[in-house]
Amino acid sequence: MLSENQIRVMFDQQTIENRIREIGEEISRDYEGEELVLVCVLKGGVMFMTQLSKSISIPMKMDFIMLSSYGNQLTSTGKVKILQDISENLSGKHALIVEDIVDTGRTLNFLKAHLLEKGAESVEVCAMLDKPSRRVMPVELRYRGFEIEDEFVLGYGLDYAQWYRNLPYIAYVRQEEES
Ligand code: PRP
Repeated sequence: MLSENQIRVMFDQQTIENRIREIGEEISRDYEGEELVLVCVLKGGVMFMTQLSKSISIPMKMDFIMLSSYGNQLTSTGKVKILQDISENLSGKHALIVEDIVDTGRTLNFLKAHLLEKGAESVEVCAMLDKPSRRVMPVELRYRGFEIEDEFVLGYGLDYAQWYRNLPYIAYVRQEEES
């Protein structure tokens, strides 16, 4: 756990939810008349998915996938593994991946290929946060909430050792100052 003064607000709830509403409206326009399936990447994507889905005004389905968490241990040869796959048949449907954060881009590259293999007509990405400075694999984001610097972030689904996912805002961890 962190001490209270290490947690600093980066985006407050109002700011996040205003942005999510805009994205939801954009998605509703873009996918009008299409069969849309939102695919939430667990666990971090869950709060974003919940809020986003409320701003989407066209019929859609929701599904969930859990991928292996590799933390900082991943080497460049590390592989992403599926812990729990989606249950929806994607054949002829348009998949939209809902992610909390894009860092190296490895997870999304793996997941896009996986969903295409499962027969999706198209696979696009909607990410709440984007840390482009950490990218090792290019990835195209169709929708993006906010671009951030290379800070450790938590809240609104994002964790710190599995804690803090429930915070209704996005915070960064302030480094301890030397005394
Ligand atoms: C985080 C995040 C993305 C992935 C992004 O998940 O939710 O899925 O890492 O990193 P990448 O761009 O470097 O692949 P994490 O493994 O922390 O699991 P969680 O969603 O359960 O917190």
